Amino acid sequence: MKNIALFASGSGSNVENIIRYFKDDTNFNFPFIISNNRDAFVHERAKKLQVPSFFYKKERFENGEALAFLLENKIDFIVLAGFLLKVPDNILQSYPNKIINIHPALLPKFGGKGMYGSHVHEAVVANKETESGITIHYVNENYDEGQIIFQAKCEVLPTDTPEDVAAKVHELEYRYFPEIIKNVVM
Ligand code: GRF
Repeated sequence: MKNIALFASGSGSNVENIIRYFKDDTNFNFPFIISNNRDAFVHERAKKLQVPSFFYKKERFENGEALAFLLENKIDFIVLAGFLLKVPDNILQSYPNKIINIHPALLPKFGGKGMYGSHVHEAVVANKETESGITIHYVNENYDEGQIIFQAKCEVLPTDTPEDVAAKVHELEYRYFPEIIKNVVM
C-alpha cells in the first residue's frame, strides 16, 4: 500500500475528486491533506470527506517541520493539486521523482511563477490560443519545469471566456489526474 500526501492551497476540487476515486482502493492511502493556506476551502472539503487536513505556513515548510511530518507518517509520494507554494529543497531532496503536480495549461506554455489558477486561463484567452489543456509533471526546483508525464488537450473557441476555459480544463483534470496518479505511483 502506498501512502500519498495531498498538498493544496485553494478550493481543493481535485483533492476531493482524487479521494473519491481511490475510496475503495486498498493499494492507495491518502492519510491527510496539507495546505499552506489556513483559510483554503480544501479544509471544508476535508471535513466532509473525513480526512484530516493540516495548515503549515511557509516557514514550517522551509524549516523542515513539514518534511518531518511526512516522514513520521511514512509518506511515499506527494501529489500537488493546486498547491501554490514552491516545494522547498528539503522535501524535494527526500522525495526525488516522487512529487507530481498538475498544471492547468499545456506546458511549457503558460507556466512559471505567477502562472496559476485564473491567470493561466486569462493568458490563454488573451493570447488567442486555439487549444489549452492539462499537464501532469514531476516537480523539481523550478516552477513547472519538471519532466512531463502526461498532457491532455481541449479546444478553445474564439468566444470562450477564461471561465469557459477553466471549466474545460477542470473537466480534463477530474477525468485524468486520478488515473495518472495510479499509474505513476504503482
Ligand atoms: C487546478 O486547475 C490545478 O490545475 C491548478 O490549480 C487548480 C486547483 O483547483 N494547479 P482545485 O483547488 O483543485 O479546485
